[in-house]
Order: sequence, then C-alpha cells, then structure tokens
Amino acid sequence: MKVVKNPKELMKILRKEKRSIGFVPTMGALHEGHLSLIRQSCKENEITVVSIFVNPTQFLPGEDFSRYPRKYEADKKICELAGVDYLFMPSVEDIYQKDEVLVKAPKIKGYILEGYNRPGHFDGVLQIVNKLLNIVKPTRAYFGKKDAQQLYLIEKMVENFYMDVEIVPCDIVRESDGLAMSSRNVYLSEEERKRALLLSKSLKRAGKLIMQGEKDVEKIREEMFKVLEKVEIEYIEVVNKNLDKIKSVEKGNSIILVAAKVGNTRFIDNLWI
Ligand code: PAF
Repeated sequence: MKVVKNPKELMKILRKEKRSIGFVPTMGALHEGHLSLIRQSCKENEITVVSIFVNPTQFLPGEDFSRYPRKYEADKKICELAGVDYLFMPSVEDIYQKDEVLVKAPKIKGYILEGYNRPGHFDGVLQIVNKLLNIVKPTRAYFGKKDAQQLYLIEKMVENFYMDVEIVPCDIVRESDGLAMSSRNVYLSEEERKRALLLSKSLKRAGKLIMQGEKDVEKIREEMFKVLEKVEIEYIEVVNKNLDKIKSVEKGNSIILVAAKVGNTRFIDNLWI
C-alpha cells in the first residue's frame, strides 16, 4: 500500500491507471462500517483508494472538530490488511486554499433534517467530496446509508455537475446489540451507550410495526417517541428517497430517520424500508 499526502502526486499516479478504481472517502478512526465499504470496493474494482481527512469545513463552530478521534497509525494498518492500494492522507493545507470557489448544498434539500440542525454542514461535505472525486476520479465511490441525506446530496451533486462516477450506497453496519457503527461511539460512557442504543431500538420498533402492516407515519413516529423518551430527540422523520416527507410508508421508497443527542454528542440512525 502506498500512502500519499499530496493531491497532485496522487493525481499523477492515478491518471496513469488503466484499471478500475474504487474509492472510499473517510474521516478516519476506521471501524467495521468503513471496512465493509473497503471490502466491497476491493471486490468490485481492480484497485482501491481510501482517503482519511477530518474535514474542517463540515464542522460547525462549537462542534467536535478538534476532539474528533484521529487514529492515523491504526488506520494505516487496517487499510494495509484490507488490501487498499493507495491511502490518501492530506493535511488541511494540502487541500484548502484561502478564498476558494465554493460548492453549495441545494437551498431546500440541503437545509432540512441534518442541514436544518447543522446549517452549512453539507456545503462543507460537498466541497470536500467534490475535491476528492476530482483528485481520485474513481470508477465507483462508496458511501454508507447511515448518512442518508449526505448520500442523497452527493448523488445530486454528481448528477447536477455531470460527474463521471458511480455512487454506490452501502448498508449500515451495526454492533451486535444494534448500535450503528460510528467513529463517534468512542465518546460514549457505558451509561450513555445504553441510551444511544435507544435510537436503533426505536427503528426496530418502527420496522416491526411496518411488518405488522402499519403504514401511518404519525402512528409510527408516536411509538418511536415513546422508545426515545430518555434521549434529547432532534427529529424523527419519515421521508421518501427524494427526502420529501410522506404520510404513509411505501415499501421500497421510505426512509425513517432519527437524530438525537446523548451526552454532548449527536447521533443519527435510520431504517430504509
Ligand atoms: O461521511 C464521512 O465520513 C464524511 O462526511 C466524508 C464523506 C468523508 C466527507 O468528509
């Protein structure tokens, strides 16, 4: 595995590549969730590129940018063992210049749900993903469905900017007790972890109701609110794949989204129906 820091150096190497390129962008502190994306990329492409970059522009003032877990040495080993070909680890100075041309999240879909609670977050996500996709120019890029709105907006950016890449959505990976894998799980104390589990429990409850034939979104939300009594809920919403709110669940075209604060940390989770 070759570790590259400089964007132009990576571009020079990858432009000579004739093989298919799979790309997994991450912010590091790699866990099983990331590994499942990396494994899928290795299976579906001839070479795999992983990036590790804690992107400052997607954190709002007061958010956890400075304490976001950074485990560069452990991450390198994980990537090497997983069969990654190139690990891209630029610094902030390698990536950002002063007074840049900016990519903007769409005014509606970028400012609901996560975007409502973290205004400007998706501008930063799209700015960095745009740069990374241009540097790597992958055949396929892999993103987790846990960040459902991020996935939607990246697919939109690729469509709107005619970018030549296939975006591959990947299933959520969970701990054995149901907690969705996240680099932020390390922030949780034992007691907080129990409360964080309520997010996946509320989605499980929703899933069971739907299996039993319930379609009414208000009834499903009501039951989820009950499960989530002990956490600071930010939102529980049911949307279609276009992120429009819906009143009745439609199989194959509904996502149940939940965001809540546990201790000092926000967590999100969702269920695709
Ligand atoms: O999902 C993430 O880890 C980040 O938002 C991403 C896509 C790597 C951009 O910084």
